[in-house]
Amino acid sequence: MNYLTTLLANTHEKAKFSCGKAMLDDYLHKQARQDIRRKLSACFVLSPDNKEIKGYYTLSNSSIPRSQLPESIIRKLPSYKDLPVTLLGRLAIDNKFKGQQLGRLLLVDALKRSYDASSSTASMAIIVDPIDQQATGFYARFGFIPLRDSGRMFIPMQTVEDLFNA
Ligand SMILES: CC(C)(COP(=O)(O)OP(=O)(O)OC[C@H]1O[C@@H](n2cnc3c(N)ncnc32)[C@H](O)[C@@H]1OP(=O)(O)O)[C@@H](O)C(=O)NCCC(=O)NCCS
Repeated sequence: MNYLTTLLANTHEKAKFSCGKAMLDDYLHKQARQDIRRKLSACFVLSPDNKEIKGYYTLSNSSIPRSQLPESIIRKLPSYKDLPVTLLGRLAIDNKFKGQQLGRLLLVDALKRSYDASSSTASMAIIVDPIDQQATGFYARFGFIPLRDSGRMFIPMQTVEDLFNA
């Protein structure tokens, strides 16, 4: 299993990270390490020199009510009320490195980690919580579909599997 990212550690200069969205910057500066310690969320960083953070994303286990999925998917599922998914809660690239395909690379890295983990802890989709319209546009560009009655979007794990097996 080869990933481009590593778990956020003490060596990383998290205070210097700036993606232009205060909520995402503050999370990395103040909250991410605590969430890792408490097993609330894993935070992976792209940091080739183990100091400067070019980008980061977070992953955690979650679930969604089946009623949020499109009818075409629900029809094929057993009648479980809630379904296991992986939450890609945040993804951000530092302003200095935007527009260099690093957002795409981080997204693929997050999909790969999620897909690999789903073999041992089942997860039928990856969901995202776009922070605004710009983020929605980014995820839509990569095939994420809106979840009904929520601002969230998702991609089925089967689609991710097909991508990696293509
Ligand atoms: C959104 C973000 C992660 C994109 O990262 P990036 O490194 O600049 O994007 P990339 O260079 O990898 O772009 C990959 C592709 O997505 C497209 N893209 C980038 N941002 C996009 C957007 N907002 N809407 C639609 N497409 C977008 C690019 O044009 C590119 O397309 P191409 O392959 O046809 O050239 C980055 O702008 C960012 O960190 N924004 C602030 C935080 C944020 O909004 N995060 C979103 C999730 S909470």
